[in-house]
Amino acid sequence: MASHSLSCSVQVVVSLIIFSSLLLAHHVSSFEFQVGDKNGWGVPPANDSKIYNTWASHNRFKVGDTICFKYRKDSVMQVNVEGYKNCNSTRPNFFSNTGNTIFNLDHAGLFYFISGAAGHCERGQRMIVRVLAHEDSLSGTGGGGGGGGSSSGSRVAVLSYGVAKLVIVQLVLSYTVSYIF
Ligand SMILES: *[C@@H]1O[C@H](CO)[C@@H](O)[C@H](O)[C@H]1NC(C)=O
Ligand SMILES: *[C@@H]1O[C@H](CO)[C@@H](O)[C@H](O)[C@H]1NC(C)=O
Repeated sequence: MASHSLSCSVQVVVSLIIFSSLLLAHHVSSFEFQVGDKNGWGVPPANDSKIYNTWASHNRFKVGDTICFKYRKDSVMQVNVEGYKNCNSTRPNFFSNTGNTIFNLDHAGLFYFISGAAGHCERGQRMIVRVLAHEDSLSGTGGGGGGGGSSSGSRVAVLSYGVAKLVIVQLVLSYTVSYIF
């Protein structure tokens, strides 16, 4: 009887530890990015008009991550691909001009952002963000139509990230089990 209840409580402890390590892994894996790093969100210099797409291509975005826009006397809009190409701000899906906008990347695929201030988008204040699904880390199927040579590189990086996470969880588990028994 005693050994039975002991093994029950051991099971509870093990499940709690597994559960909390999974929660922790999930929590650590979502991230907030500051758009443009320390420069924030503004009209780019004339000789460097692609800074936001360059910035976006140097980062790897996953579902659940957030991006933060910091700006003064400006605004941010999320638009469709036509709105992005034509700098058309008449029908944004999302608009904010608070100066500190946090946008949640809540699904995989491509997000298009432009400035809503007159003339800013035309001068290069616009950005495409490609968001990877969590499942992409293991299945390897690409999302959206994002093309370009960079996609295979980021996929490899995501794969090794997923594997590293699995290895860590397994290490925690085997350590826990050997400690208890
Ligand atoms: C753009 O011009 C500034 C000064 O005119 C210079 O410091 C900067 O290096 C230039 N950037 C690029 C990408 O050429
Ligand atoms: C902007 O988009 C709206 C609605 O999608 C459209 O009616 C309008 O003609 C567009 N304007 C330009 C300049 O493309």
